Amino acid sequence: MRDSFAIDLLGWYDRHARALPWRIGPADRAAGMRPDPYRVWLSEVMLQQTTVAAVRAYFARFTSLWPDVQALAAAPDAAVMAEWAGLGYYARARNLLACARAVAAQGGFPDAETGLRRLPGIGPYTAAAVAAIAFDRPAVVVDGNVERVISRVFAVHEPLPRSRPQIAALAATVTPQDRPGDYAQAMMDLGATLCTPRNPACGICPVIAHCEGRRAGIAADLPRKQAK
Ligand code: ADE
Repeated sequence: MRDSFAIDLLGWYDRHARALPWRIGPADRAAGMRPDPYRVWLSEVMLQQTTVAAVRAYFARFTSLWPDVQALAAAPDAAVMAEWAGLGYYARARNLLACARAVAAQGGFPDAETGLRRLPGIGPYTAAAVAAIAFDRPAVVVDGNVERVISRVFAVHEPLPRSRPQIAALAATVTPQDRPGDYAQAMMDLGATLCTPRNPACGICPVIAHCEGRRAGIAADLPRKQAK
C-alpha cells in the first residue's frame, strides 16, 4: 500500500491542490521550483490555532511589509506586535521575531528538521512541515487533519491522545521519498476538504481503495477520542 497510497493522493493533489498564497503553482512545481522557506515558515506559524481563511489577510500584510526574513528581523518589536493583533497567542509573535532574528543572523533557514528544531518557537510539527514543504525532506508531518486521515485509513481504534505515537508510526509508513513536500500538503488538503470531521466525502475520496475505516463502515466515527 505504501507507495500506491502516496501516488493516488499526489495524483489528486495535482488536480485539486488549493491555491494558497504561500504555495507555488503546479507549473512551477513541475519545473522543480520550491516555495520560499520564509513564506512557508510564516504561514505555518500563523496557521497554528488559526484558520486558513483568517490567516490570508495577515499573511498578505506581513509579506508586503516584510518580504523576506531579513526585513522581518529588522522590524521594530512594536510594529510586528501591532500587525499581529487579532491573531491571538502573542507568544507566537514574540517567538516569530526571535526566530526571524536567529535565521537572519545565520544567513538563512536550516534545510532539515534537526536544524529547524533549534530555532526559537519551532516545535516538532513546524520543523517537519517546513522541512517537507520548503526543502522536500521526507519528514513525517502530523497535524490534526493528518491525525484524522491516518486514523481512518488504518482504522485506528485506540482513542486520542493515547493513539498519537501509533498514528505517527503509521504516518511514517506512507510518507513517500518522492515529492514529500507535495504529499504533506496533499494530506492537509484532504483532511480540510474531503476527510472532514463530520460527513466525510468518501464517495469522491482519492484514497478510498486504501481506507480500512471505510471498509469497516466506521470512517466517520474515527478518530475516537478519550472521554474527558
Ligand atoms: N494548515 C497548516 N499548514 C497548512 C498548509 N501548508 N496548507 C494548508 N493548510 C495548512
